[in-house]
Amino acid sequence: MKFVTLPSGEKLPALGQGTWYMGDKRETRAEEISTLQLGLDLGLKLIDTAEMYGEGKAEELIGEAIAGRRDQAFLVSKVYPHNASRKGTIAACERSLKRLRTDCIDLYLLHWRGNLPFGETLEGFLALQKAGKIRYYGVSNMDLDDMQELFSLPGGEAVATNQLLYNLTRRGIEWDLLPWLRGKRIPVMAYSPIEQSRLLRNPKLVDFTKCHGMTPAQAALAWLMAKGDIITIPKTGRRDRVKENLGALDYELSADQLAELDRLFPPPKAPVPLEML
Ligand SMILES: NC(=O)c1ccc[n+]([C@@H]2O[C@H](COP(=O)([O-])OP(=O)(O)OC[C@H]3O[C@@H](n4cnc5c(N)ncnc54)[C@H](OP(=O)(O)O)[C@@H]3O)[C@@H](O)[C@H]2O)c1
Repeated sequence: MKFVTLPSGEKLPALGQGTWYMGDKRETRAEEISTLQLGLDLGLKLIDTAEMYGEGKAEELIGEAIAGRRDQAFLVSKVYPHNASRKGTIAACERSLKRLRTDCIDLYLLHWRGNLPFGETLEGFLALQKAGKIRYYGVSNMDLDDMQELFSLPGGEAVATNQLLYNLTRRGIEWDLLPWLRGKRIPVMAYSPIEQSRLLRNPKLVDFTKCHGMTPAQAALAWLMAKGDIITIPKTGRRDRVKENLGALDYELSADQLAELDRLFPPPKAPVPLEML
């Protein structure tokens, strides 16, 4: 396993598990639970979710998957922007705790920027942290100006991550946001690392992987993990695919392979507005 260090010094596996759309369908529920449990067995302890996912259904499914082994998981959840007032953040977190069947969320994020002031959300996060209901807090889908604003507010400098859309075809953050976050030692959590599976059918990536003996999912994940300070959270509800995705750790991409991927999927040459899904 590769590890990424949070600002607190705590190390987290660079590969975690996403859960968007998990718990939505009765037919796939058992396999999804079993996949999360297999992921935990294999060391994928970070499980990412949000109150938004299935309006709580994904959190409930996770609660079932981690029953009796809460200590083996690092749980990340997110508050809706419209709930992110001081009181609303606390209330939303308490609902998430209940669904997750735990008394503490490891990392609690503001899902994206809404109309409520950041200062209120930070007050909610700080109160939750003081009460032991969350260990760390952070944000998601925040651009550079949002991060700078957050850093000017009490508690803003303690943000533990910015969860962002980042994959071979979405490299805009490399222009200025990623360097700024690196300067503050705040790791990015890369979501949709295989572009919700669209990257797997990308002819350029498919050709690349044919030449290098790995699958497209493995190449996309290995590229992110080669950065050394990125946590990535692919979602799969299938046991065979969690093993395949974990196999990305077996591929240390060479300088030549990374250069070839830069040629096929070029980094930005100018500022790009923040993209989100
Ligand atoms: N903060 C945010 O705003 C935000 C936004 C989007 C996502 N996220 C988080 O990031 C996680 C990952 O992003 P994502 O779910 O959008 O997209 P993703 O991880 O890039 O792709 C997930 C899709 O790829 C399929 N898949 C996974 N591994 C595969 C493999 N080896 N071979 C073939 N297909 C494979 C999955 O299907 P199966 O399940 O059928 O395998 C699923 O349809 C989410 O689940 C969520 O936790 C956060």
